[in-house]
Formats: sequence, structure tokens, C-alpha cells
Amino acid sequence: MSLERKTAVVTGAAGGIGKAITRRLIGNGYCVVAGDADADGLRNLESEFNGAERRIVAKAGDLRTKEYCEGLIGYAVQETGRLDLLVNNAGIITRGSILETTDEDWFRTLDINLTAIFYTCRHAIALMKDRGGGAIVNVSSCWGLYPGPNHPAYCTSKGAVAMLTKCLGRDHAGDGIRVNAVCPNEVNTPMLRTGFARRGLDPDTAITELNRTVPLGRIAEPMDIADVIEFLASDAARYIAGTTIEVSGAKAVY
Ligand SMILES: NC(=O)c1ccc[n+]([C@@H]2O[C@H](COP(=O)([O-])OP(=O)(O)OC[C@H]3O[C@@H](n4cnc5c(N)ncnc54)[C@H](O)[C@@H]3O)[C@@H](O)[C@H]2O)c1
Repeated sequence: MSLERKTAVVTGAAGGIGKAITRRLIGNGYCVVAGDADADGLRNLESEFNGAERRIVAKAGDLRTKEYCEGLIGYAVQETGRLDLLVNNAGIITRGSILETTDEDWFRTLDINLTAIFYTCRHAIALMKDRGGGAIVNVSSCWGLYPGPNHPAYCTSKGAVAMLTKCLGRDHAGDGIRVNAVCPNEVNTPMLRTGFARRGLDPDTAITELNRTVPLGRIAEPMDIADVIEFLASDAARYIAGTTIEVSGAKAVY
């Protein structure tokens, strides 16, 4: 592994947005330490990107355990000798009003969407501080800034990610660590498509209809989000810290 190459840890790397982020970062010369619960998806990423040079270092596991969250950060340093960027992208969507939300739904959502980010950020910030800086990009949601209908567990978890981002961005700017969040509205990924399928709708038809509700004319593709993450990670965003960026095609949450 080249020590010249920057290292990024990306969680949920085998998912819709995660794969796009991984592609973008590798295209920018990063080595990506890819985390996901989906071990097969990670193997596919490795076979796509690892040729003569190892560009993906995969580590499968469950973000509900503190050991895995911290281990992912430690593994990056162990395997590549550095940590420049952390992208907390993994997440789950939990649907239903509060009356339909079980205790298990609530804690699972907060464990994966929020507590895992607390663990990875705490470990990464300690390391980045010692090494003179770095960048963190968290994936929140427009539904963490405004109340999306009938998703209180999801919206609460994403709202907390937005606030955690602002707190860490403020507290660690002086350590040379820029912490920001991207807040997408609807994105064409398995998360969205499986939701339609579960409700008995054809995902392609449902997305065509959803496209009409977006002022820019379509919902986001994963690369639309990856491009913003790439920007926030880059030196072009050197004066942006402790903030959230809405990537919504001008569609309001209602
Ligand atoms: N798709 C959208 O419309 C949308 C909108 C706003 C925000 N987001 C956010 O974007 C992020 C990526 O979502 P996506 O649409 O690519 O979804 P996705 O379902 O395609 O990908 C999510 C990935 O996270 C992984 N993951 C889930 N639970 C995990 C766990 N416990 N341990 C390890 N890995 C786990 C999954 O295996 C999956 O690969 C999420 O945080 C999501 O909330 C998505």
C-alpha cells in the first residue's frame, strides 16, 4: 500500500450511495477502507477495484457493535498507515408512525444511524488530532432537518446526526478536522426501491412518479450525493466546517 495515497474509511460501502462514494474516492486516488454488513457486496467491490494495486481494503461487520466501529478506524491505520477521511454513510430506514414503532425498531435505528457514528467519530477524531487533521462527512438526510411523514425513528436519528456533526465541526475545527454532513432527499438506491417493492409498487413506475415531484425534474442518483461528499472531503471545501448541506433538487419535505 502506498503511503502517498490518502486513506478514507467509508461505512455502508456496499450500498447504493456507498458504492458511488467508493468509486469517486478511488477515482481521486484514495485507498478506501470499506465497511458494510454485506460481506458479499464488499467482495464484489474488491473484485471490481483491486487489480495490481490494492485500492479497497474491506472489513465486514455490524455497526451495532462498538468493537466493529472502532475496529474499522484502527484497521485503516493498521493496513494503510494513515486516516485522512471518514465517511459515515451506512444507515437504515425505519418506517411507521410512533404507534407502529416497536422498542426494537427504535433502538436498532438509533444504534445504526447514530451511535455507530458517535463511536467511529470519537475514535477517528482522536487519531486525526494526533496526526494534524482530517475530514469527516456524515450522511444525514433532509428528513433529519424537517419532519418527513410517519418516520419518527428515522427522522430523529438523522436529526441527531445533523446536530452531532455541527457540534463536532465546531469543537474540532481548531484541530484541523472539518466535520460536515450531507442531507439528501430521495435517492435512487436499494433503500428507496425496496420500500416501494414492500408496499407492492413497481419501483421503476414509483420513481417515475416521484421524479415529477422534484423541481429539478428527478430524484437524486447516488453519484449526485457522492459528488457533494467528494467536494466536502476536498481542499476546495477548506473553509466549510460544522455544517449540513441539503441536496434535494429543491424538493421540500412536506
Ligand atoms: N436513499 C435515499 O433516499 C436516502 C435519502 C436520504 C439519506 N439517505 C442516507 O444515505 C445513506 C446510504 O443509504 P442508501 O440509500 O445508499 O441505502 P442502502 O440500503 O443502499 O445502503 C446502506 C448500506 O448500509 C449497510 N448497513 C446497514 N446496516 C448496517 C449495519 N448494522 N452494519 C453495517 N452496515 C450496515 C447496508 O448493508 C447497506 O449496504 C443512509 O445513511 C441513508 O439513511 C438515503
